[in-house]
Amino acid sequence: MKQKWSQEELTCLLAQSDEAFLPVLEAANRVCEANFGKEVKVRALLEFSNHCKRQCRYCGLNCRNRKLARFRMEPEQIVETAVEAADCGYQTIVLQSGEDSFYSVEMLGELVKAIKAARPKLAVTLSCGEFKAADYRYFKECGADRYLLKHETSDETLYQELHPDSDFGQRLACQKAIKAAGLETGGGFMIGLPHQTLAGIAKDLLTVASIPCDMAGVGPFLPHPDTELGNEPHGSATLTIRAVALLRLLLPKANLPATTALGVLDAAQKDKIFCCGANVIMQKVTPSDYKKLYQIYPAEFKSLSITEGRRQVEEEIRRLGRIPV
Ligand code: 5AD
Repeated sequence: MKQKWSQEELTCLLAQSDEAFLPVLEAANRVCEANFGKEVKVRALLEFSNHCKRQCRYCGLNCRNRKLARFRMEPEQIVETAVEAADCGYQTIVLQSGEDSFYSVEMLGELVKAIKAARPKLAVTLSCGEFKAADYRYFKECGADRYLLKHETSDETLYQELHPDSDFGQRLACQKAIKAAGLETGGGFMIGLPHQTLAGIAKDLLTVASIPCDMAGVGPFLPHPDTELGNEPHGSATLTIRAVALLRLLLPKANLPATTALGVLDAAQKDKIFCCGANVIMQKVTPSDYKKLYQIYPAEFKSLSITEGRRQVEEEIRRLGRIPV
């Protein structure tokens, strides 16, 4: 199957019947297994602050959501949790937050340094929003390995509507700066945003490939009741799977997570995703009291210890005939 498509060709592929699309899913599985075997990488996700200065209309953490109780973890607690995750077998921790100016660039750098000093082998990924190019270079100097910043949608008009305080050009510039800083670059986008089109999703796929992203998360939009988009329909699980499969063919070696949002929408589809190109899963290690406040979209979260969460996710992966690493 060819791996270079135009936006028009990708749009047609996305619009196909289930039957016609099946060869794409199969090809994505073959490419995924050729690169990663049956292995699924399990990564720890620590959500350390739900404060956010942005107004992104789809996100439950946006600063206009006054209903949400806000929390911030102390730097010491963040480091302790990362160490605990490493000692439970995680090889990567993703530190994620809203865009919270409380943590200065220096503080984030110090956090990375402290985690690296305590557990040198633990890969540290930051996911804290938009910064200046020099700041991404500084994170790299402090020992950060990766940075996640999704472009969310590449339809510029839609981007502007959804992000009143940012713009698409700036977003792409950030991703390019992350790449130029020598950080592994994580991107991605949502499926089913209001007014999104198949041509838009095709452009999203090409945008991820153009960076090119080393990792990319694609998840369905889930309406959050305390946002302006609370009454909009959710994104399609089938379309999400199609997008992941096409991304696998566009970027054979990229790390593609099965997003939590897909699992929230449809547990069966989440299982299917590992046969269609995904090779990564993120497991929350956020302390339980905070986990329920990190409400990007509505979801039920179990309160599990880090060890118990790790055990469950490994079991789930084995049940799907895959090997957790
Ligand atoms: N539904 C689904 N995904 C969402 N995100 C933010 N809000 C929503 C929502 N309502 C995703 C964005 C962001 C990531 C952390 O969560 O893609 O980058």
